[in-house]
Amino acid sequence: MNYPDFVRIKKVISENKSVKSIFLPFDKDIEPGQFLMITIPGVDEIPMSVSRILENEISITFKRVGDATSELFKKSEGEILGVRGPLGRGFDIQGERILFVAGGTGIAPIAPAVEKAKELGKDITTILGAKTKDDLFFVERLKRCGNLIITTDDGSAGKKGFASDAAEEIMDKEDFDLVITCGPEIMMKKILDICLDRSIDFQASVERYIKCGLGLCGQCCIGEGLRVCKEGPVFSGEILKGCKDFGCYSRDSAGRRVYLRDE
Ligand SMILES: Cc1cc2nc3c(=O)[nH]c(=O)nc-3n(C[C@H](O)[C@H](O)[C@H](O)COP(=O)(O)OP(=O)(O)OC[C@H]3O[C@@H](n4cnc5c(N)ncnc54)[C@H](O)[C@@H]3O)c2cc1C
Ligand code: FES
Repeated sequence: MNYPDFVRIKKVISENKSVKSIFLPFDKDIEPGQFLMITIPGVDEIPMSVSRILENEISITFKRVGDATSELFKKSEGEILGVRGPLGRGFDIQGERILFVAGGTGIAPIAPAVEKAKELGKDITTILGAKTKDDLFFVERLKRCGNLIITTDDGSAGKKGFASDAAEEIMDKEDFDLVITCGPEIMMKKILDICLDRSIDFQASVERYIKCGLGLCGQCCIGEGLRVCKEGPVFSGEILKGCKDFGCYSRDSAGRRVYLRDE
């Protein structure tokens, strides 16, 4: 697990104008919410959540944001990537009625969790939030699994507004046993506070800068020394409510604080 397996890309698909999925051979067990360190030879090694779990195959799904993801964006079938993992802890799908809330590329780890919840016979509602209609992806996949509510910041698809507002609205009307979320941290913090008020179980997949991915370097810590790459990236509400930095600041590659702002 300390060394990447170098594998050939099986397939690349465009999910929308700025999001692609890369399919890779993978024969180990992996759970929704776990992640992989992906080596882009000569460029970087970056963390990516598993976005599809198939027979001897997985996908990663990413947005072009900087150097590494831009290089990934150029990759095509047959080219080589390094894969290290599975790493971290995934979602613990419990209870009968589950609300999933995903913002932006946060839907990448949420989609396989929704599919697993469907396989387990859970009653599922998913809220999928994006900036605009053109930023949405995985819509048909999520519709097949249960009730889907779409929100966009500009109202170009679904309800106008934020996923966290739609989550509060539905939690006012309906009972849920568990809320699972991934997306901008400020959104996740708002949803955590709503769940704490209503005593609803909560799990979130958290991002911090990852280097070793093995729990050794301490780069990815949140709260009082919790390692996102080892104890996370999925944490319960019970744990996150005690992390003062959750929803407030993250750290860059040099360990400097980066204060979070509404995206
Ligand atoms: C557990 C985990 C799972 C992730 N899953 C996905 C996913 O499924 N899809 C997706 O699009 N993105 C995912 N990300 C975020 C993704 O790793 C970063 O967007 C990516 O590393 C950016 O690299 P870059 O060189 O393109 O951009 P840069 O310009 O280098 O950085 C853009 C942003 O990404 C952050 N970033 C850069 N390198 C890392 C790193 N090694 N670890 C964490 N953050 C980094 C930067 O701090 C910055 O906020 C995940 C992050 C984590 C921690
Ligand atoms: S990235 Fe090294 S301890 Fe988590």
